[in-house]
Amino acid sequence: MNKTSPLILQPDAAGLARAAALLAKGSLVAFPTETVYGLGADARNGAAVAGIFAAKDRPHFNPLIVHVPSISAARRYVVWSDTADILARAFWPGPLTLVLPLAEDHGLSPLVTAGLPTVALRAPAQASAQVLLETFGGPVAAPSANPSGRISPTTADHVVQGLGGRVTAVVDDGACSVGLESTIVGLVPEPTLLRAGGLPLEAIEASLGLRLSNLPRPSSNETVTAPGQLASHYAPNATLRMNATSAAPGELLLGFGPMACDLNLSVSGDLYEAAANLFDHLHRLDDLNRPIAVAPIPMHGLGNAINDRLNRASAPRMP
Ligand code: TXA
Ligand code: MG
Repeated sequence: MNKTSPLILQPDAAGLARAAALLAKGSLVAFPTETVYGLGADARNGAAVAGIFAAKDRPHFNPLIVHVPSISAARRYVVWSDTADILARAFWPGPLTLVLPLAEDHGLSPLVTAGLPTVALRAPAQASAQVLLETFGGPVAAPSANPSGRISPTTADHVVQGLGGRVTAVVDDGACSVGLESTIVGLVPEPTLLRAGGLPLEAIEASLGLRLSNLPRPSSNETVTAPGQLASHYAPNATLRMNATSAAPGELLLGFGPMACDLNLSVSGDLYEAAANLFDHLHRLDDLNRPIAVAPIPMHGLGNAINDRLNRASAPRMP
């Protein structure tokens, strides 16, 4: 943990005005979205964006999501399309990120896009995030507010534990309701699932009336055609074993459905509840410094994204 601690701001008018003013002067502000807490900076300010990479220890080839309050704000930065319009009207604000071609005079720092000709955009639903974005009045680059490669934060406390004084302020608006990062869909050249997440793939396919292509995940750090698909990610300190029906001696058991275990993602087997609990339960078990076994999670709806995060948490670590 870092020795210094960030300023904690309330999600009220005064706290959010303060957060917006800090963003405007180039400071880093962590803020809640319905998915996870983001580490925000003015996406037009290169020095501020560089601060995000430094605070997270994030590889520079991994581009950031730009947060906007609405469709009209998003259109300022990209070449909008009919497919983007269908998806944004159906799911924004909400846990969906769209990757679109950059507009000519976008004004975003090239660090945000890591030099790619596209940018990832998202309008978060969290009411306090909406007020913050409207008050700030500009694009906010924000990856998840955790040290790179570690478990994502779903409470302000997780952010403080992970980043401490590396962030100027944290808006504390309680626990995130979705609990998994947004689903990322690339729209060029054709609709492609780049990351499973808080919006089930089935909902996106139903709204478009077509199946999305699925990008194969590269196995190592070197082949980042769609960044963010690093095999080892979201990793706890402890080792993690998937599809366990019981705990081996010394292991902690993370359960799903009615069963004896140390912590349960959802006793009733509800995948939305399990998603909301996932990162917090991993943080809690990880604090106990013992290997973690995880019960099987069904592979449908949000189960795809939950299994994706668990698979990455259990993958061999990168050097
Ligand atoms: O729910 C979320 O998406 C959270 C909250 C804070 O909004 N943010 C988040 O950001 O998860 P981050 O940086 O942890 O993940 C962003 C992902 C990365 O995997 C990155 O590689 C991918 O988006 N990405 C960003 N720009 C891209 C682009 N132009 N093309 C392809 N992938 C892109
Ligand atoms: Mg992340």
